[in-house]
Amino acid sequence: SVTHVILTGGVGSRLWPLSRKSQPKQYLDIFDGKSLFEMTVDRNRDIADKVMVVGNIDNCHLSKKVLEKSNTSYIDIIESTPRNTAAAIAFAAFASEPDDILIVTPSDHIIGKMDRYEEAIQEAVDKAAQGSIVTFGIVPTKPETGYGYIERNGDNVLSFREKPNQVSARDFIAKGNFLWNSGMFCFKASVFLEELQVYAPVVYETSKRAWDNNSNGNLDLALSLSIPSISVDYAIMERSKKIKVVASHFDWSDLGSFESVYDYLITIGHPVDENGNMVIGTTNYTAFIGVKDTIFVYTPTANLILKKEFSQDVKSVYNELERRN
Ligand code: GDD
Ligand code: MG
Repeated sequence: SVTHVILTGGVGSRLWPLSRKSQPKQYLDIFDGKSLFEMTVDRNRDIADKVMVVGNIDNCHLSKKVLEKSNTSYIDIIESTPRNTAAAIAFAAFASEPDDILIVTPSDHIIGKMDRYEEAIQEAVDKAAQGSIVTFGIVPTKPETGYGYIERNGDNVLSFREKPNQVSARDFIAKGNFLWNSGMFCFKASVFLEELQVYAPVVYETSKRAWDNNSNGNLDLALSLSIPSISVDYAIMERSKKIKVVASHFDWSDLGSFESVYDYLITIGHPVDENGNMVIGTTNYTAFIGVKDTIFVYTPTANLILKKEFSQDVKSVYNELERRN
């Protein structure tokens, strides 16, 4: 059977102050009346037989609200603390039958051209059934450093580079045979766990111990804290030899950073001044003088003024505030 696994345990720290621990970005109704999480559920409704949510103790009630509204039954895996995506996906695999095919998606994407999306998923499910770990590749449009890059020849992956620096990202784009990693994956549960055991044995063992001691899908805090925090991209994608890529042609925006939110908002007609400055979160008249490509983010309790190209650095403000609390 095919399971849609939704990863929703991230806090979206690069979208602070829009995104908060108590209300991460994927649950905000800021984009289309629906939250990104709800869009993710809807988009995959007809693709999979089962839905599994790997979320966090702080936000599982937000997922529940959305899924109950649409009468969607789901398997709930509740992390007591985020241990990053390698472990989150391992829990989903432990909760599945070995031959189950998992389609793992983040919950913070906007996707368009659904016929092409469904086509890509079908192709991925077929490859996964034959034992591959499939990523969905997106044709890159700029040297973004917040993504993974897939060097490929047809559907073969020559190398996978997570979050390169500017210089490498430019080089990859110039070479022409690199795609962005969309952050969605498809594989058999057993294949993922075998690869995890080979390439990240400590993650495998500690997350297995945590999973074996779960109570109704709730993971124990002390056992979870022993799991190394590493993303699936570094743990598996950069290392495994079973990776295949499906070059995808659906519209894709990851609303992971203010730069990508900015680009997306422009496509839907959100105002931007002649110097590339944008206001998010208020309709108050806001003047920008002597600055360009700057984003002003307003919320009732905290504001952010950001030079667009520093979007990846917002995380450090969030981390600093977390540390002080
Ligand atoms: N359950 C759970 N637990 N989910 C998590 C955790 C965790 O500890 N950490 C992150 N997530 C969820 C996030 O909520 C998000 O939906 C997804 O996993 C991916 O995490 P991000 O933090 O958004 O990853 P990223 O954007 O830095 O990078 C990934 O996505 C890019 C495309 O959007 C990578 O896969 C990149 O290679 C890729 O290009
Ligand atoms: Mg992301």
